[in-house]
Amino acid sequence: MRDRIRLGLVGLGRMGRFHAANLAGRIPQAELVRIVDADESIAHENADRLGGIEWSTSYDDLLDDPEIEAVIVASPTPLHAEMAEAAAAAGKHVFCEKPISLDLGRTYEVIEAVRSAGVKMQVGFHRRFDPDYRAAKQRIAAGEAGEVYIFRTSLRDMRSPGFDYIRGSGGFFADVTLHDFDTARWMIGEIEEVTAFGAVLSDPGFEEVGDIDNAIVNLRFATGALGVIDNSRVAGYGYECSSEIMGSRATLRIDNHRRISVQTLTPDRMCQDYVSDFVERFADAYRAEMEHFLTALREDRDPEVTGADAAAAFVLAQAADRSYREGRTISLKRKEQDGEIFYEEVG
Ligand SMILES: NC(=O)c1ccc[n+]([C@@H]2O[C@H](COP(=O)([O-])OP(=O)(O)OC[C@H]3O[C@@H](n4cnc5c(N)ncnc54)[C@H](O)[C@@H]3O)[C@@H](O)[C@H]2O)c1
Repeated sequence: MRDRIRLGLVGLGRMGRFHAANLAGRIPQAELVRIVDADESIAHENADRLGGIEWSTSYDDLLDDPEIEAVIVASPTPLHAEMAEAAAAAGKHVFCEKPISLDLGRTYEVIEAVRSAGVKMQVGFHRRFDPDYRAAKQRIAAGEAGEVYIFRTSLRDMRSPGFDYIRGSGGFFADVTLHDFDTARWMIGEIEEVTAFGAVLSDPGFEEVGDIDNAIVNLRFATGALGVIDNSRVAGYGYECSSEIMGSRATLRIDNHRRISVQTLTPDRMCQDYVSDFVERFADAYRAEMEHFLTALREDRDPEVTGADAAAAFVLAQAADRSYREGRTISLKRKEQDGEIFYEEVG
């Protein structure tokens, strides 16, 4: 392997263009050599923006390039499984945006394809690489919070990404709440019960595409701790990703939503700025997750976020969707296989 790992990236939308900018300019151990987007003007414009790197509209061009060691899949969700499998079959490592697939069987097939090709895969659960979330996780693991009683987390988008995106997203729980399920498992532990409530409150268009725009999900962890997740596509005031872990010895709060730390004080009022999207809030985390992926490749070890983690979060998202549609609590069982945790619904 060279000093810099040579990468290709497919899908230059909201997420992919940020990953591409990181890989092209902010991560010294990466060399982004080729980008692909089905939309020619998007591919071309991004290649110019990134200093004139190779671009194309065909994913095969990326797979056929023998110089490329790893592929970043940031295309629409329905394309992930096929693209990740094809990359593995071409002998390339894969960073796959979440979720791997909207079908659990296909998710496991991709995990198996990666394993049998002998390449590595990391999935885009960026929150695990955010400095605040990492510090809180370490404090919980060190026992500083004591016994955890309540895990509370909010993930709210300022505005909807639009119905074209939502139609292919796999639905609210698989697209949005998925991140919270991963965070909950990672920070607190395995989850045994999921009860979800959902609603269309802002625009009947969500109902027309069979989706919702707001949700509350209650959790019971295997430790006995309780959890509550609230999510919105239409928070209006900004982008929020805050969490609170209340334990017997301490409560940890993660609530960092400022671009800068200036407060403006006027009579009766104190103002501070507030982030408007995930890229602003998690700029460091998105860079760090890529650095982690590249370090794992260089050191020939598995990345921290495994395919099995992605599958577990997806099972929880499916359980939330079923809970919401059937109006009942879903119980889950986990089993361990080859050192990895897999979930299955039991009721
Ligand atoms: N980890 C995160 O925080 C996070 C945040 C947002 C999105 N995502 C994930 O990233 C993925 C992309 O989301 P987005 O919001 O960037 O979507 P987007 O719709 O903004 O962008 C998708 C891009 O893929 C391109 N594309 C479509 N079909 C293609 C094909 N066959 N070949 C190549 N390019 C193709 C489109 O032209 C578009 O530019 C989704 O799976 C989503 O779940 C993750």
